[in-house]
Amino acid sequence: MSLTSGRFSWLTVVAISASLAAGCSKSGLESSFVYSAKTDSLIPEAQSGIKGQAGVKKMVDDRFGNPQHLKAWSKLPIDFGGVTASVGETPSGKAVKEILLQFEEGITSPSGDAVSSVQFVGGAAAGETAAVLSWDAESGKATLVSALTGSPAQGDQVVIGGGEVIRNGRVLYQRHCSHCHGTSGDGAGPTAEYLNPRPRDYRHGVFKFTSTNSSSKASREDLSRILKYGIPGTYMPSFLLLKDDELYAIVEYVRFLAMRGEFERKLVTELSVDYSKASVADQTASGTKRSEIIEALTAFLTEDFSDVANSAGDELAEAWSTADTEEALVAPTVGRVADSPESRRRGRELYLSKCADCHGVSGEGNGPQTTIFEKLPDADALYPEAGLHDEWGNVTKPRNLTQGIYRGGRRPIDLFCRMNEGIKGTKMPAFKTVFSNEDVWHIVNYVLSIPFEAEPGVSPGSIAPATPVAPAAAE
Ligand code: HEC
Ligand code: HEC
Repeated sequence: MSLTSGRFSWLTVVAISASLAAGCSKSGLESSFVYSAKTDSLIPEAQSGIKGQAGVKKMVDDRFGNPQHLKAWSKLPIDFGGVTASVGETPSGKAVKEILLQFEEGITSPSGDAVSSVQFVGGAAAGETAAVLSWDAESGKATLVSALTGSPAQGDQVVIGGGEVIRNGRVLYQRHCSHCHGTSGDGAGPTAEYLNPRPRDYRHGVFKFTSTNSSSKASREDLSRILKYGIPGTYMPSFLLLKDDELYAIVEYVRFLAMRGEFERKLVTELSVDYSKASVADQTASGTKRSEIIEALTAFLTEDFSDVANSAGDELAEAWSTADTEEALVAPTVGRVADSPESRRRGRELYLSKCADCHGVSGEGNGPQTTIFEKLPDADALYPEAGLHDEWGNVTKPRNLTQGIYRGGRRPIDLFCRMNEGIKGTKMPAFKTVFSNEDVWHIVNYVLSIPFEAEPGVSPGSIAPATPVAPAAAE
């Protein structure tokens, strides 16, 4: 499936209504998207808007919709599905039932069944979706089931079969993923609370096991690999049995949920300094009238908020598109250093200097760092429990390296990525500024040998040839 032909390259936001009703109260799944706790920390006027001006919630809904009515924000690098076209010479006037459609160069006219609906995104019929009775791919003539309310003009933009990918993704996600990851991708589905580690909350836009460098998002390829193979040593299952187009649609939907969550967080960040409940309480305590604060908020929502939303969308578009480029991929400057007792010895030395503090001298994941109390990110207080916390506030133990189970994959290059770039959203740091690529390979060789060590630091390969032991007498 081509990534560009399916994109709504010049539309703003298109509504996609789903054919299937989502959510089932018995399963504990929500039928609408939830908002983050950060949004709840704002004063009600900033959450819900004031004097007809959108607050955070409406801004998010306007661009992403809800499970039954998803929206396609064309700015985002998501393949929502559907092909864009424009209205060609078409009879004007009332009750138009036949239209001619033209495609941009390079876009092939979709055939047969693919054309079930035409969605008008510009002109007098903007917002209308018309079901298609018949479609002639050659001439581009679409006969609509019922007449349009507004009369389309030549050049008006339409989307054919819009939203198919994302709608498909939603249905599959709801079936296979939401009981763990939640309808909104908040990682809080009905089964989530019994799991350790917890299912990922996508809304931070952060994924741990990627092939991209430390400052980049996950690529589509990364998400697809996670889906196919699952995450060893956790409850994240493998979905190898799904078809390629199903995996593709789910990946787009996960990215959609991630971007929705990040967009919401970005909006809240803009507002929280002045309009969080805590900040407003402080301001009123020091004499500012609440009405003045509300007046300033109204002005901000009126004058600046849609610009804020647009640039948040631009940032997301940039970051997520970059993740799919070659420049974002981790590319070691030297090939893998051959495994040898010397390489492992060098690796162990480096390991003891930089890794043992967390992973422990013997690699069991019990270094001294695991017993300290960390500071909470947003407060002048400590976490109630000892240990290293991740982006989502969960304690994540440094991996026990004696078991040989690696969540991000066990190929040497996978381990190279983990060490060179760190594990995003966790305290496992990137070592690319500390070690040369060559040294990282030595550590990879050492780490891969840990499960086979007779005792810490003594991997079989590093033992000098011992005096042969007499074989046990055959019984
Ligand atoms: C039985 C529960 C469960 C189900 C079902 C499940 N997951 Fe997960 N998923 C998890 C857990 C647990 C993790 C976190 C593992 C970790 O942090 O190491 C996770 C992590 C992930 C990640 C994060 C990968 C990364 O690099 O950070 C993605 C993406 C993901 N799941 C997608 C999906 C999708 C899509 C589906 C449905 C097709 C799905 N999961 C179904 C439990 C589940
Ligand atoms: C500040 C603490 C810290 C330091 C220092 C640290 N790690 Fe980690 N490491 C972690 C944590 C936490 C995890 C688990 C992250 C997760 O999956 O949530 C981890 C995970 C790993 C994994 C598992 C990767 C996978 O795919 O499952 C490997 C391998 C690893 N670290 C190796 C190293 C090596 C080698 C070094 C030194 C070069 C090192 N770590 C330094 C905290 C640390």
